[in-house]
Amino acid sequence: MIKEADWITPSATYEDHAAVVYFKDFKAKGKITEAKLYTTCLGVYEAKLNGERISNYYLAPGWTAYHSRLQYQEYDVTKMLKGTNKLEIEVGDGWIRGRVAMKVPKFLKTPSAVLASLYIKYDDGTEENIITDETWNTKRSNISFNELYDGETCDANFKDTKPEKAKLLKWSKSILIPQEGEFITEHERLKPILITAPNGEKILDFGQNMTGYVEIELDAKVGDRVILDCGEVLDADGNFYRDNYRSALAKIDYTCCDGHNVYKPRLTFYGFRYLRVLKYPGKIDPSSFTGICVYSDIKKTGHLECSNKLLNRLFDNIFWGQKDNYLDIPTDCPQRDERNGWAGDAQVFTRTASYNYDVYKFFDKWLQDMAAEQHKDGEVFQFAPRGTMTYKDIMSLPYQNSAAWGDAATICPWEIYMTYGNIEILKKNYKMMSGWVDYITGATKDKYLWTGHFHYGDWLGVDAPEGSYEGKSNKELIATAYYAYSTSLVIKAGKLLKKDVSKYEELYKNIVKAFRKTFPSYQTQTEHAIALHFDLAKDKKSTADSLAKMVKENGNKLTTGFVGTPCLLHALSENGYADVAYSLLLQEEYPSWLFSVRMGATTIWEHWDGKKEDGSFWSEKMNSFNHYAYGAVADWVYGVAAGINRVEEAPGFKEIVIKPVPDKRLSWLEASIDTRCGVVSSKWVYEGDKVRYEITTPSPATIVIEGKTYKVGKGTYIF
Ligand code: BGC
Repeated sequence: MIKEADWITPSATYEDHAAVVYFKDFKAKGKITEAKLYTTCLGVYEAKLNGERISNYYLAPGWTAYHSRLQYQEYDVTKMLKGTNKLEIEVGDGWIRGRVAMKVPKFLKTPSAVLASLYIKYDDGTEENIITDETWNTKRSNISFNELYDGETCDANFKDTKPEKAKLLKWSKSILIPQEGEFITEHERLKPILITAPNGEKILDFGQNMTGYVEIELDAKVGDRVILDCGEVLDADGNFYRDNYRSALAKIDYTCCDGHNVYKPRLTFYGFRYLRVLKYPGKIDPSSFTGICVYSDIKKTGHLECSNKLLNRLFDNIFWGQKDNYLDIPTDCPQRDERNGWAGDAQVFTRTASYNYDVYKFFDKWLQDMAAEQHKDGEVFQFAPRGTMTYKDIMSLPYQNSAAWGDAATICPWEIYMTYGNIEILKKNYKMMSGWVDYITGATKDKYLWTGHFHYGDWLGVDAPEGSYEGKSNKELIATAYYAYSTSLVIKAGKLLKKDVSKYEELYKNIVKAFRKTFPSYQTQTEHAIALHFDLAKDKKSTADSLAKMVKENGNKLTTGFVGTPCLLHALSENGYADVAYSLLLQEEYPSWLFSVRMGATTIWEHWDGKKEDGSFWSEKMNSFNHYAYGAVADWVYGVAAGINRVEEAPGFKEIVIKPVPDKRLSWLEASIDTRCGVVSSKWVYEGDKVRYEITTPSPATIVIEGKTYKVGKGTYIF
């Protein structure tokens, strides 16, 4: 239906970054029995019929690999149509024209455009299709500036410019795909308190680092202005701080009309806990402001709780970090001039993500974008979508990728398959998975290792040499371990899909051999953890002993970064050192998860010392307070502390292994996941020296309690 429409763009020239309204007035020809709007745009849009917002989908059509995939949406508008109608589609820069797309000017030239088709069926059986064409008009919207990083400027008094004819635009329609991902919708509404900083500035504190925007409601006079900018944390003195937003201005600039005003940004989003009030007419009334959280409409499925208050706050922070960064794609962070779908961050967190929320659809879409941008030699990018480049542009780039980032191509589909048990995700992505492994095989300098290539290594490891972001672990060891792991997943997926995987089986054996020969010993915590967790260490016992010793000698503190941290607790507990893993989890001194909680974090930080004990900050160059990656520790809490595990032979929790590992330092802990088969939950409570276990399984389960194995069917069991 939508393909019958033509792409239209303004014939008038409006200011750069001003939003454009495309509109059409029309009369219904009779009594309407059905009406559907199909639409998309180049940018992001808000569509209205007769002045009313058509849907609860914000920032539509979402972010995809635009050169080959652009989602369109379908809305039932039967009840919204009248005799005389006005259809308006307001379009902003969004991702496609935003700075986020790619910082290369040539890629920022995508024009604003709309494609829409309104299908109407009348009660006499006749049909009508109102499509975008040259009969549509455009006008400049009252949003004079919009940019994802920089914010929005809106003047409620703006008088409509004279309607100008839209003109046709030649733009591909073969890139159109129906909506694949979740809708991006509004969620929690938070009320702020007003604080006066020591330097006199007025700051609204929403109590939670969030992603979305603020709604402003006030009575005002014409020309009164409200100007706000965003911050995530206060500095050591309690003053507003926003240097870590780097070049992102993240501003809200609203000019009021006479009387009652209600405004919220329509075409952008922000990451913030604090808003600095730079301008406000008269005495600031905090009740005029409401923080609205905006993210993909993912359903919460996970629950974690225990007897330790700080840990409970950490669990909350992990859930918030996910919501705040799951706005259509898994972003690294929602606030600074980045907000890209960094694949390494996404990969380490996928299992946790899939327990916390139902993210099947979310990943299904994102992985298709990653696959769409895979190079013909198999390389995938370090983030997806890459931007707005054509395939030709992508091919002309010097490739940048890294182990652990590119491996998202194998790990994410596998994790999603394991949690939801739907083999479709492997079918759709097998080509990308095997292609990635083939790419490494072709790109490495030394056969069966991954050498001679750029790698991020153990990104942001605590043991990074002064002035570097890259932890001191051997990058080629990490890369080779991931090469082995990705190959093992291609073998598993290939077997399920009945492919010939003999080549990969041979390859896997050789990588393991080469790994053991080349990396016979391990220096850092990350090297140990990776060798153990990926089942590569030749002598597991001595490697685990050495890792536990290192951790203890370091005062039960970690030295790991993005790559080592997600493996560390698993590597310890898989090898008899669950107590040491707990010591790391419960550590409150820097560097640790609970250090950030003690420092007031409401989300997961990018750096273990984003804010230091004395209140000073890590360099503003790379210091997000809303980077979910370290939140991957939740998969250890679900899987080891509470002991809830998926089974490869019966994925999607069709069978479950439940093997809780209690620790006396907590008096109780519970976890549950609302799986495709029903809710699985595991709780343990210390009663003196004894532990009482309460387990509910929706599927046949193997329950292991203090060394004893019980095979049970669906039900609730107390031990
Ligand atoms: C991002 C990270 C990302 C990294 C690549 C950063 O700028 O924020 O989260 O994974 O670059 O090393």
